[in-house]
Amino acid sequence: MFNVTVIGTGYVGLVSGTVFADKGNSVICLDIDEEKINRLLRGDVPIYEPGLQELVIRNMSSGRLDFTTDAKRAVQSSDIIFIAVGTPSAEDGSADLRYVQAVCRDIAQNMDRHKIIVNKSTVPVGTADKVKLWIEEHLEKDVPFDVVSCPEFLREGSAVRDSLNPDRIVIGGANPEAVKVLNKLHEPFDAPIIETDPRSAEMIKYASNAFLATKISFINEISNICEKVDADVTMVAQGIGLDKRIGSHFLKAGVGYGGSCFPKDTNALIQIAEDVDHDFELLKSVVKINSQQRLKVIEKLQQQLGRLEDKVIGILGLAFKPNTDDMREAPSVDVIHNLKEYNSKIKVYDPVAMAMARRVLPADVVYCDGIEELLQGVDAAVLLTEWEDFKTINWGLMKDKMHRPVVIDGRNVFDPEEMRAMGIQYSSFGRQNSQQILQELVNS
Ligand code: UDX
Repeated sequence: MFNVTVIGTGYVGLVSGTVFADKGNSVICLDIDEEKINRLLRGDVPIYEPGLQELVIRNMSSGRLDFTTDAKRAVQSSDIIFIAVGTPSAEDGSADLRYVQAVCRDIAQNMDRHKIIVNKSTVPVGTADKVKLWIEEHLEKDVPFDVVSCPEFLREGSAVRDSLNPDRIVIGGANPEAVKVLNKLHEPFDAPIIETDPRSAEMIKYASNAFLATKISFINEISNICEKVDADVTMVAQGIGLDKRIGSHFLKAGVGYGGSCFPKDTNALIQIAEDVDHDFELLKSVVKINSQQRLKVIEKLQQQLGRLEDKVIGILGLAFKPNTDDMREAPSVDVIHNLKEYNSKIKVYDPVAMAMARRVLPADVVYCDGIEELLQGVDAAVLLTEWEDFKTINWGLMKDKMHRPVVIDGRNVFDPEEMRAMGIQYSSFGRQNSQQILQELVNS
């Protein structure tokens, strides 16, 4: 068992620290945010993440997990230090490393003996070398250390499960001894371990996220064509996904991806490529398709309602995906701001993300307490997050509460035939029905 320090108690740091403690290690998590640390010390987890609160409390009670704002204590109590601070987007899309740099100074100034310093934050290729330089720059005495890159692949909403059962663990280090220690730390996770150099490890993280984002934009483009040729994108996704070389995941068409990783990391990789004079055209298209995809909601509303001015639109789901309250880069934000430009009236409901939403949505949005209140009197309902609660809405009953029975399904959750049978004017993504096409042909 190891003494581990994790610096940064965001999604990645808090979940990784807790999971390392759960595997029997002694873990201390450091953050500069005193309020957050005080909340954590009371067992109060500041983010919505299923299963995390219970796991934090269990490991704190067993004495394996602690939180502090004291950098000296955190650095000196461990042999392995994970850096898991944020790497937000700079203005040009590249990753801003100022927090990583600040942490390097803190580590260097408090280093008392050999440490393995591990980058868990998503950082540009070459950052492990920079971390080494930044630490050397601030070292007050000659203490040996190693820098290793060990990217994190957890998803929000299933972060605990993902961290306890990872598909793979990537360890990129120049010193085989340090790699061996990290290999041992990760042994209890029972996952394949890739040992590599730091730069390849850093690239693996960006390439993974860029590839997944590409899959989503690819299927969204196919869905746009499906609508025009009267094919069904869900069948197409199933048909291509059974080919093992393609795989069935990340082929759900809809309003596209959001969140704290895909938008940030795709832009960062475009910038990394640009820095070495490579024009990553493919990834640029992926990003462009994703931003256009959100606005398809407006087109679909216009097809159903005509002018959108003064129309009351009910938004079902605000978070960028279910099981999180995270609103970062959520499609709902763009859709709602766009609808405001058409002077529509907006009502919103999300089972978890309402408080977060208030920080980013326009002031005159109406916040509803539940599905029924949201649907009351709307000209259209737009589903943007596929929460389980929404999947069981009885539209046959609900349509009487609505001013018009229009539903735009941004996540292809409902069955088009069933919706139409209930009298709903239903639009989804890539599943245009033959009747509608026939009608258009008759009209033309
Ligand atoms: C992602 C990566 O999956 C994870 O490995 C990495 O560490 C961080 O970024 P996350 O942002 O939590 O995780 O969410 P994810 O579940 O991957 O979904 C991202 C977005 O893609 C969501 O907005 C989701 O709605 C969308 N999506 C996903 C689709 O539109 N279609 C799909 O088929 C899958």
